[in-house]
Amino acid sequence: MPPVKIGVLISGGGTNLQSIIDNIKDGNINGEIKLIISNKEEAYGLTRGKDAGIESIFIGRKAFDSEEEYNLRLINEFKKRDIELIVLAGYLKVLSKSFIHEFKERIINIHPSLIPSFCGKGYYGERVHGEVLSYGVKFTGATVHFVDEGTDTGPIILQKVVEVDSKDTIDTLKEKVLKVEHEILVQGVKLYCENRLYIEGRKVIIN
Ligand code: GRF
Repeated sequence: MPPVKIGVLISGGGTNLQSIIDNIKDGNINGEIKLIISNKEEAYGLTRGKDAGIESIFIGRKAFDSEEEYNLRLINEFKKRDIELIVLAGYLKVLSKSFIHEFKERIINIHPSLIPSFCGKGYYGERVHGEVLSYGVKFTGATVHFVDEGTDTGPIILQKVVEVDSKDTIDTLKEKVLKVEHEILVQGVKLYCENRLYIEGRKVIIN
């Protein structure tokens, strides 16, 4: 099976992106990252992409008159390169409806909690871990899911649990969860590239 053409959207450090780059290089994922786009010019993930010889570009929202026009540019860049799968790897903007429709059931996101807990509008990055600690839950984790028109509401592909220790801080919890994010994002992209994911309503069946 030819490698799946992958496009990645990032906003930050790109450690999730790096885990995909490394696993493609090791032959563990039957994919090829054709383009990385960041909405933040200073995102270190762009450096990671360039170091791996992958086309990595900054496209800022400010250059466009609307969210819709910004998303249309993203769509065009990905379509120009025949991208088949979009991975959101720490991408902090909400995608437009037209983007979701263009890549229906072909957008995978990683979220740093066990959806449907601690997710939705405004729940990203360290705020998620802060809410987890404030609530006093004994377990948190990470979720890989398909992206639909909601925020963190698409069919769940994989989840993995992380135990919350009484001594945990935002930083220690973030580190534990990020490690699990890397594991299940790689696994989710791998399964997609092996055509082993089947969406049945709200459920994702792994063949
Ligand atoms: C991480 O906190 C992760 O939870 C979320 O985006 C953040 C940045 O990850 N998905 P990365 O290091 O940029 O991949």
